[in-house]
Amino acid sequence: MKINSICCIGAGYVGGPTMAVIAQKCPDIKVTVVDLNESRIAAWNDSDFTKLPVYEPGLDAVVKEARGRNLFFSTEVDKAIDEAQMIFISVNTPTKMYGAGKGMAADLKYIELCARQIARVATSDKIVVEKSTLPVRTAEAIKSILDNTGNGVKFQILSNPEFLAEGTAVEDLHRPDRVLIGGNEQEAIQSLVEVYGQWVPKERILTANLWSSELSKLTANAFLAQRVSSINAISELCEKTGADVNEVAKAIGMDSRIGPKFLKASVGFGGSCFQKDILNLVYIAKSYGLDEVADYWQQVVIMNDHQKHRFAKKIVKKLYNTVSGKKIAMLGWAFKKDTNDTRESAAIDIALDLIAEEANVMVYDPKVSENQIKNDVNNIENNIKVTADPYQACKDAHAIAVVTEWDEFKEYDWKKIYDSMLKPAFVFDGRNILDKEALKKIGFVYTAIGSSN
Ligand code: NAD
Ligand code: UGA
Repeated sequence: MKINSICCIGAGYVGGPTMAVIAQKCPDIKVTVVDLNESRIAAWNDSDFTKLPVYEPGLDAVVKEARGRNLFFSTEVDKAIDEAQMIFISVNTPTKMYGAGKGMAADLKYIELCARQIARVATSDKIVVEKSTLPVRTAEAIKSILDNTGNGVKFQILSNPEFLAEGTAVEDLHRPDRVLIGGNEQEAIQSLVEVYGQWVPKERILTANLWSSELSKLTANAFLAQRVSSINAISELCEKTGADVNEVAKAIGMDSRIGPKFLKASVGFGGSCFQKDILNLVYIAKSYGLDEVADYWQQVVIMNDHQKHRFAKKIVKKLYNTVSGKKIAMLGWAFKKDTNDTRESAAIDIALDLIAEEANVMVYDPKVSENQIKNDVNNIENNIKVTADPYQACKDAHAIAVVTEWDEFKEYDWKKIYDSMLKPAFVFDGRNILDKEALKKIGFVYTAIGSSN
């Protein structure tokens, strides 16, 4: 079937950019992105493109090109479902915070609500595409709901997990390493292959069975997060032994079997998915009685928690074992550069640890709003302040903690910052992005991740 109308349920970090690019690349397909969140839809429709709800380099241009032509954002979920031949489900699948599997399993209530809504509304055959990241075998449950509560129309289910990374979403969508489509019905698979085929080279479009496709997504995130935890584990050893983690990463990364990417030691990985997806994998393994498999992956999260808290502890230790009443400037709050997303950002844990030690934290992030930052630390007003001026953040500070790798941090007038700080002026570079030698020359006491300096 040639697709000419698509609906996507969920206008978040995945649904918004993904559908904007499909609409941009497939002008003959009408793409409607729907969400229950009225303010989010209003923001997607805002005439001021700086107000789009997701900040991604290049996204404004894509939305500008397609919105109103064949890309629409709406809160009329039923109407969009009914009109579409193909429906993407791109709603959130957070870690379940109640009942069985609390703190581990994926909470699939939003997925189930979507399936029930599609079944109730659909009056013609539909291809339903899982875009959200889901536990392996979720398609079985969706199919059962659709077939048992529907109006007798035919539903075909596909799994099409999304591999984009935030901050590079548009680039990743324009030139994906691969697009993965899992399904049991060739005709449905072919329909989606043809959509992506309008801009993705055929050899990059992989097809698989449903369960492989669902499991590949969790596995990809687990492998990526594992690399970060692996290099972070080595960073601690470097600090004890005089080795330098950047040099170790370079040396191992030149082995073509290991490869150079994703080997940057850091304050720990954040983002809405790595931890959630690994915990989900652990839960699935446990539910099949595979305790060794579960423990193996659990360790990736344990290591990451350790890395985040270790960074805060190091700051306290270096500041003569107390930060009580001291001003600490935090540069960065987003979980990585080029995004305004703060979900599971290491910055949150680090700030909370410092606040627990009675530090006065002042945060500067180029893209994250004050409201968001305050909200992330449950509005503890007294010990956290936010400023739109990085120099203000650092003024009269005892120490600076760099927690996000924003490029602009490298360009600051570090002499001016040094002059405005209390002495000795400490810098804790949680991303190893600053020029260590230059900073030391200015007079800073500079501490990196993964080297003993
Ligand atoms: P998000 O929270 O940004 O967006 C989800 C949206 O779905 C929200 O706006 C919410 O209001 C909406 N929604 C929930 N239930 C709804 C319903 N019944 N009807 C209409 N709208 C509904 O989430 P996200 O970051 O876009 O992630 C979505 C999925 O994609 C998750 O499963 C996630 O694991 C996966 N994923 C995310 C990324 C990423 O970079 N964020 C990358 C790959 C995959
Ligand atoms: C990650 C994956 O890279 C995507 O393929 C996937 O689609 C997505 O999760 C998802 O499922 O949500 P994302 O979380 O947006 O993407 O960003 P990453 O670039 O993977 O970074 C994740 C975290 O790891 C960030 O906090 C980043 O700073 C950290 N990181 C990454 C490091 O500390 N070191 C590295 O070398 C790489």
